[in-house]
Amino acid sequence: MADRSNVVVVGAQWGDEAKGKLVDYLALNATMVVRYGGGNNAGHTVTANGIEYKFHLIPAGILNPDTVCIVSDGVVVDPGVMLKEINGLVARGVSVANLRLSSSAHVILPYHRMLDDLQEAKRGAGKIGTTGRGIGPAYADKAARIGIRLGEFVDPSRFEPRLRAVVAEKNEVFKVYGAEPINADEILAEYSVYASALKPFVADTSLLVYNAASAGTGVIFEGAQGTLLDIDLGTYPFVTSSHPIAGGACIGTGIGPTLIDSVIGVAKGYTTRVGSGVFPTELLDERGDYIRERGHEYGTTTGRPRRCGWLDSVILRYAVRINGLTALSLGHLDVLTGMESVQIGVAYTDADGNLVKDMPADLVNRPEFTPVYETLAGWCEDVSGARTLEELPENAHAYIRRVEELSGVPVVSVSVGPGREQTILVEDRMQSVLQRRPR
Ligand code: GDP
Ligand code: IMO
Ligand code: MG
Repeated sequence: MADRSNVVVVGAQWGDEAKGKLVDYLALNATMVVRYGGGNNAGHTVTANGIEYKFHLIPAGILNPDTVCIVSDGVVVDPGVMLKEINGLVARGVSVANLRLSSSAHVILPYHRMLDDLQEAKRGAGKIGTTGRGIGPAYADKAARIGIRLGEFVDPSRFEPRLRAVVAEKNEVFKVYGAEPINADEILAEYSVYASALKPFVADTSLLVYNAASAGTGVIFEGAQGTLLDIDLGTYPFVTSSHPIAGGACIGTGIGPTLIDSVIGVAKGYTTRVGSGVFPTELLDERGDYIRERGHEYGTTTGRPRRCGWLDSVILRYAVRINGLTALSLGHLDVLTGMESVQIGVAYTDADGNLVKDMPADLVNRPEFTPVYETLAGWCEDVSGARTLEELPENAHAYIRRVEELSGVPVVSVSVGPGREQTILVEDRMQSVLQRRPR
């Protein structure tokens, strides 16, 4: 038990890579799963025993009854959504006895959601395409040091005065937007009910995570969003407001980097993106539609159609660099079935025809960058029933090998469908990921 590794699971693209599926799987070998950032902009799907679960705030490890599930300091919590998610799980017979919410996590309140909408409307054609969940405004309040944290939220004597002060300030802001003022009494009435329901779950989670991570009993850090949506290292300004990257696992939980043993990047065999912003390998033709329909590429959170395109290894190598990936989990190979050929973006060319192999820091300002593709033979076999690498068609094998070469990182698991069992493990490699580094 004491030699299990602490593993960060991070999105290697623009989110929705199937992090939830991998976390649910890894939770079987861990005593704790920690969501370290973002809020209910995330939607993590797990299909276990034929039943589909969609998590927005609660870690995907909750389906394993022995796993302690933590929503840590770096997360922004919408109390109504959290309560709904808790009640939904309980109604389906899933225990939440092991759920703990950090007293330092910031709370999303109605004025955050309203501001998210007002700001997006003001941006007009330059809108980010946010999820409208109040994420950006909640993180902005945290940075401005006027945010309300869960510890305060569940203490009525502290919540009421803080809320009244912030609402007074927000009403001044709403005037600028020409919007109606909000009423602190109404918020108090609704949110006090949420506060008393959530209070039993609130704890000093930083200590809990540290104790588990240093004891070697296995902690999975569940990333939300993806590398390219990181506020600093993503395709700014078309990003979220938190740190989805692996480093966010330390910032968002309060453990030091030396406690992390492995970082698994999750990627699809192609690329998707929801919302606006640069996407060099996007397919705007029938091949993009083919991927969208076969992969059911519609958002878990907002239902929006996802933009689809080829795998971009420039971005993958960037994810390797930024997150220190030690392994890759490559998924959705079943979706590519039926394509005559598949392409991988291996570099870009600039306006002068120069080859650009490394992700430029300002990709967002380089619309002239054109992907250079490598074309591989496709496969027509249904791969959704494959449970070993040997059961995959040779062309799918070749595709995986090429992804490994281009990224420089070994693939430790391959996903061929949404189901828990539709996972191919590269056993020896996964074992080394799950083994603690010598200290
Ligand atoms: P996350 O946000 O990274 O956890 O990913 P999402 O849950 O938002 O999106 C991934 C979607 O793909 C979900 O609907 C999963 O059920 C589904 N999925 C996961 N792995 C596979 C796979 O290998 N093949 C297919 N076809 N679907 C998958
Ligand atoms: P998971 O964890 C995909 C995107 C939004 C938008 C941008 C900013 O399921 O992978 P925000 O509401 O965060 O201010 O929106 O970020 N976005 C996601 N896209 N998956 C997610 O989470 C996302 N979370 C945010 O679509 O482009
Ligand atoms: Mg998602």
